[in-house]
Amino acid sequence: MIDLRSDTVTKPDKDILEEALSAELGDDEYGEDPTVNQLQEKCSKLLGFEEALFVSSGLMGNQISLLIHNTPGSEVITTSDSHIKNYEHGAASFLSRVQFREVEHVNGVIDLGEIATTFEKSKVHKPNIKTIALENTHLASGGSIVPFNHIKNIYELSKQLNVSLHIDGARVWHAILQEDSSLNYGSICDSLTFCFSKALGAPIGSMLLGSREFIKEAREYRKILGGGTRQVGVIASMASKALDKRERLLEDHTKAKNVYKALLDDNENNEFNLKYQNTNMVFLEFENNENANHFIEKLQNQQVLSGLINKNTVRLVFHKDILSEDLETIKEAIYSSSKS
Ligand SMILES: Cc1ncc(COP(=O)(O)O)c(C=O)c1O
Repeated sequence: MIDLRSDTVTKPDKDILEEALSAELGDDEYGEDPTVNQLQEKCSKLLGFEEALFVSSGLMGNQISLLIHNTPGSEVITTSDSHIKNYEHGAASFLSRVQFREVEHVNGVIDLGEIATTFEKSKVHKPNIKTIALENTHLASGGSIVPFNHIKNIYELSKQLNVSLHIDGARVWHAILQEDSSLNYGSICDSLTFCFSKALGAPIGSMLLGSREFIKEAREYRKILGGGTRQVGVIASMASKALDKRERLLEDHTKAKNVYKALLDDNENNEFNLKYQNTNMVFLEFENNENANHFIEKLQNQQVLSGLINKNTVRLVFHKDILSEDLETIKEAIYSSSKS
């Protein structure tokens, strides 16, 4: 099977698995696992934050951030289709007891005026807004990039409005490499989560980054959530190796572009609109849910797995376990599935 459902399906390569065998270990609950400590330091230096904390998942990093930035009953500004709002099993209302306020966006980019107006509107009857939560890359928009300078402007506005800015950067390395932006994310947000376990190719783990004070508090919440672990350097060693290989992500962008261009050039039979946002995904937007599901079934019959991102849209996610020789098979499967 060629699995294009997500980049979370990637399996660790041998060189990544081998790191675990030689990792120096200690008890991370005592702060004594040298491999974890090195990874946290490496990430905070790389991205310009004071400190970092290794957490089990992207969800855990996002939800710890909401717990710290908010108080019960407060509001978090986000896009209507963000992961933190829609795909985290209601964790924000369960844990932080916050609600989300959706704002308009184009490919994950929220207009500054839209944020300012939302604050003006919220004065008397509405809850206090305490956090702005951005997502980069923006999954539901096809893995689109929120430009570094735009986030910087939102951060400046957030300081004027006295709210925190969190970035769900599960796939932030795609944005950084593709945009060739500054790595200094520490200067444009209060907290950032990124995942080792998606296209980077590690089996487990995410990093949460912020100020020293923020990470001190995050460590306590990680414990409360059952995320305090012991000789976790076994996993951190693999995450570290996966991060060292991050330039490889650009190959996934090239694979996605290859398929997108072919479908665009030979579009006679296409029953979908195409969307490609310069990273690792191609979206096929169908007229309705039935057509989208039918297409997924037909692809599956040809050994190609894909998934629905919303009721009309099929997503194809390119990752390291998709080989260049698979691209022709994928294109052929799509062409023949488009002919009804
Ligand atoms: C944009 C985004 N944020 C957060 C997450 C959550 O990551 P995890 O599955 O590690 O909890 C995901 C997972 O797919 C994601 O796509």
